[in-house]
Amino acid sequence: MTRDILIAPSILSADFAALGAEVRAIDAAGADYIHVDVMDGHFVPNITIGPGVVKALRPHTEKVFDVHLMISPVDLFIEDFVTAGADIVTIHPEAGAHVHRTLQLIKALGAKAGISLNPGTPIDVVDQVIDLVDLILVMTVNPGFGGQAFIASQLPKIEALRTRIDASGRDIRLEVDGGVNVETAQQAIAAGADVLVAGTATFTGGPDRYAENIRRLRTGP
Ligand code: DX5
Ligand code: ZN
Repeated sequence: MTRDILIAPSILSADFAALGAEVRAIDAAGADYIHVDVMDGHFVPNITIGPGVVKALRPHTEKVFDVHLMISPVDLFIEDFVTAGADIVTIHPEAGAHVHRTLQLIKALGAKAGISLNPGTPIDVVDQVIDLVDLILVMTVNPGFGGQAFIASQLPKIEALRTRIDASGRDIRLEVDGGVNVETAQQAIAAGADVLVAGTATFTGGPDRYAENIRRLRTGP
């Protein structure tokens, strides 16, 4: 079955001194989602951006803001990100004591809810919350940094989740994040992914390359 493939450039690899222009450039280059990696120096060993930056970027594009929260505790900050303009809010089950409640909170605030699985996180957690999620994110690196190598052992996890999503009959996106390049993108798509996050592979070469970089991620070399 062919499904439409969406590309979600991670602005973690953008020029942070020119984020508005960078977001406009990837919008014009064909990005489907704008992937925003939020890190707190506690849940992951890096610190990035907060809701103020999401709010400042919101007027620069009408594309979907795909906000990936790598923060703990997480519940305290969800409303701030939704108010700032997040369309999808994705959380990690390890980031709070009550993953079901956290997903309920995202939905109650009117955003789409995503759950993210680290390479070491088993997929069974999804079964208990599949009725609440709009997106499942498979991490193909350990979260914290851009530019890491794709962990191919996660491909069977993507396949297993594709089976569960199809069996659920629900409209759930299956997103892959970490080390996605022209080659690994095709492996992820073959396994059943339909949203590809790409930081390094989008932003390499500067703005003149963005459209071609995104095209190659979507369709292959
Ligand atoms: C990692 C982040 C990713 C990362 C992807 O913790 O969630 O979104 O920025 O970067 P690349 O595409 O360079 O691996
Ligand atoms: Zn991410």
